[in-house]
Amino acid sequence: MILPIHTYGNAVLRKHAEPITKEYPNIKDLISNMLETMHYADGVGLAAPQVGFAVRLFVIDLEALREDNLELADFKIAMINPEMLEMSDDSAVAEEGCLSIPGIHETVERSLSIKIKYLDSDFVEHVDVFQDFKARVIQHEYDHLEGHLFTDKVSPLRRQMIKSKLNNILKGKTSTSYKIKSA
Ligand code: NI
Repeated sequence: MILPIHTYGNAVLRKHAEPITKEYPNIKDLISNMLETMHYADGVGLAAPQVGFAVRLFVIDLEALREDNLELADFKIAMINPEMLEMSDDSAVAEEGCLSIPGIHETVERSLSIKIKYLDSDFVEHVDVFQDFKARVIQHEYDHLEGHLFTDKVSPLRRQMIKSKLNNILKGKTSTSYKIKSA
């Protein structure tokens, strides 16, 4: 089922998301709906708060990048209750966007390497190290669970320049190819 994506200005995007217990109902359905919603919107990552659930879960699927990078294409993952264990001091800047902030792309500095603990969709615990683009996408999605958005991280000058665009999204004045829920 395709869910509406909550856009900039919705309070759910600013909440510190809650951990998910094993008793949480229909977690596999939520994961499958999030993947379907993300694919429909041409995204590569989606966090549960973006579809209105303030819980610690995100999905990533880099299949859409197959033409650019074969090695990334097989990366498809759901992370429940992720916990960032290490973030490298080495960092890089690259452009990011977000399905909740349509039409805005800005360069963001991210750690090049991270170590993260998480549960998979069967609640099996993993500890993995990710680098480069995978590390970037995970950091972006992880931020959503903390109530942070990539636009928080841009320079004060750039933030000033995107202010009116953000205000338009806030007022629901934005056009997307996917279903949204504005504030
Ligand atoms: Ni995002």
